[in-house]
Amino acid sequence: MSKLRIAMIGCGRIGEMYKEVFKTIGEQVEVAYAVDTKPERAEEFSESFPDCKAVTDYRECLDKHIDVFHIATPHHLHAPIAIDAMKHKINVLTEKPMAIELKDAEEMIKVSEEEKVKLGVIFQTRYVKGCMELKKLIEQGKLGKIVSARSYLSWSRTEDYYKGSDWKGTWDKEGGGVLIDQAIHSIDRVQWLIGDKVEWVEGNISTRYHKFIDVEDSSEALIKFNNGCLYHLFACNYYAYDAPIEIEIVGEKGKVGLKQDLAWVELEGQEHYEITDGYDGLSVGPDYWGCSHITQIKDYYNSIENDTPVYIDGKEGIKALEIIKGIYSSSKKGEKIYF
Ligand SMILES: NC(=O)c1ccc[n+]([C@@H]2O[C@H](COP(=O)([O-])OP(=O)(O)OC[C@H]3O[C@@H](n4cnc5c(N)ncnc54)[C@H](O)[C@@H]3O)[C@@H](O)[C@H]2O)c1
Repeated sequence: MSKLRIAMIGCGRIGEMYKEVFKTIGEQVEVAYAVDTKPERAEEFSESFPDCKAVTDYRECLDKHIDVFHIATPHHLHAPIAIDAMKHKINVLTEKPMAIELKDAEEMIKVSEEEKVKLGVIFQTRYVKGCMELKKLIEQGKLGKIVSARSYLSWSRTEDYYKGSDWKGTWDKEGGGVLIDQAIHSIDRVQWLIGDKVEWVEGNISTRYHKFIDVEDSSEALIKFNNGCLYHLFACNYYAYDAPIEIEIVGEKGKVGLKQDLAWVELEGQEHYEITDGYDGLSVGPDYWGCSHITQIKDYYNSIENDTPVYIDGKEGIKALEIIKGIYSSSKKGEKIYF
C-alpha cells in the first residue's frame, strides 16, 4: 500500500500533537507540506519530516497530488479551506468545530458528496475505549430506554491563554467561547451516546468572569431529544483548573458515565464497575486533549484506503455544532429553539 501524502494546515499548539502522530505512523503517511501563515511555525513543523516543504499559503498544495488536508487553523478558516481543498479532490480531516456557521458546515457536506471525497471531523474523545464500550452497551439496550443525561465541564482558560492568541475569544474567528471550543467534545459525546435527534434546545450563555473576551465563558442548557431524553449541560472555563469532565447517561435499567476518560457502569442487579483498559493512544500535550487523536486519524486513513464510510463524517460532525448554535440562538432570543 503506498503512503498517503498529506498536508498539515495550521502548525500551532495542536500541531505538536499531529507531529507526534505522523512520526508514529510514518509507515502510513508522507508529510509533504507544512502550512502556516507564520513561516517559522511551518518551518519548525517541516523539519521533523524528510522532503516536507514549508509554505505559508495552503493554495500552494492544491495541485500537488495531496491525498489529505489536515486542518488545524483558527475555527473560521476550517470551512473555506476545506471547501477549496475538496473542490480540488482532496480529502479533508478537520479539527472541531467543522465550521462556525451551520450553512458553511452544510456546504462542506454538500461539496464532499459532489466531489466524492472523504470529509472527517475530529472528535477524538469518542474513540476512548471506555466511551466506545458505553456506546455498545446503550446500543445493546442494556440501559433500557434512555431518560436523562448530563454533562459538566469546569475548566481553566486564563487571561494569558486568550492574550496569547489572535483569534480566541472572538465571535468572528473562534465562533463562540466555552461551548464551541471546550464543551463541544462533551456535547458531541452525549448526543452520540443518546443516539437520537434533538427536538428542542433552551439555554443561556454569559460572560460572567472573563471580561476580556467577547464570547461566553459559561453556559447552561436543556436539550430535549425525540426519544424523550432530557440532557442538561453546564460549562464554564473560569474554574481554577481543568477538572475532569463528568458525563452521565441514565436509562430505565441503569446508568453509565465518564469521568474525563474513565468510563463506569451501574446496571440494575449488577455491581458498579469501571472500564480501565487504557488507550490505543499517544499522549502528547495537555491531558484535556486526550490520547485518541491517533486512533481517529488511523481510522480515517483506513476509510480512505479501503473506501469505506468515515466514522465521524460531516453529517456526524455537524450534530454538536447544531446544538451549540441552538443554545446561542436560544440565549439571544430568550426562547426554545425547535429543530
Ligand atoms: N481536538 C482537540 O482536542 C483540540 C485541542 C486543541 C485545539 N484543537 C483545535 O485545533 C485548531 C487549532 O487550535 P490551536 O490551539 O492549535 O490554535 P493555534 O492558534 O495555536 O494554531 C493555529 C495555527 O493556524 C495558523 N494559521 C492561521 N491562519 C492560517 C491559514 N490561513 N493557513 C494556515 N495556517 C494558518 C496560525 O498561524 C497558527 O499557527 C482549532 O480548531 C482548535 O479548536 C482541537
